[in-house]
Amino acid sequence: MDEDVERILLDEQAIRERISELAAEIDRDYEGEAPLLVGVLKGAVMVVADLARAITLDVDMDWMAVSSYGSGTKSSGVVRILKDLSADITDRHVLIVEDIIDSGLTLSWLRTNLRSRGPKSVEICTLLRKPEAVKVDIDVKYVGFDIPNEFVIGYGLDYAEKYRNLPYVGILKPSVYAD
Ligand code: PRP
Ligand code: MN
Ligand code: MG
Repeated sequence: MDEDVERILLDEQAIRERISELAAEIDRDYEGEAPLLVGVLKGAVMVVADLARAITLDVDMDWMAVSSYGSGTKSSGVVRILKDLSADITDRHVLIVEDIIDSGLTLSWLRTNLRSRGPKSVEICTLLRKPEAVKVDIDVKYVGFDIPNEFVIGYGLDYAEKYRNLPYVGILKPSVYAD
């Protein structure tokens, strides 16, 4: 275990099992279709890679990078596109894939943005969801785990761009970010 990790919240096996359950639901819900998985860079990279391999349907992958304006650790809800999709999503079934929903502001903006491009549907799949996100009125079809309000890292999730490559989701030691 990394020395900056307080404890492991979800180990590799727990993540793998839950992702295969989500993939089975997606296989069933989109039967006969070829949905487009839209991963939100950078955090969602691991989830997209593992989810796409667990899904048996034909899926395409595309990527967006967004950044919320404003300083501090909380997102402001005002979002800027750093990298847009390369695919035209007109008449496509779009499934946005995220690693975590915290305030929900990023996704709420992103879904509205993608809906305006004429897709057949836009749904959301997230591996993790924090308590605050439940309060925001955002309909999330696929949720891996509802987790406590802790600072989590690993499996795509960073603190200051670090720890994304840990194979598990862990809770960061407060001493690492508290000065
Ligand atoms: C994180 C996370 C989600 C978003 C959730 O991304 O990966 O995309 O914040 O926050 P919200 O629900 O409060 O909007 P971040 O902006 O840190 O970029 P990253 O994916 O490159 O780490
Ligand atoms: Mn992100
Ligand atoms: Mg981040």
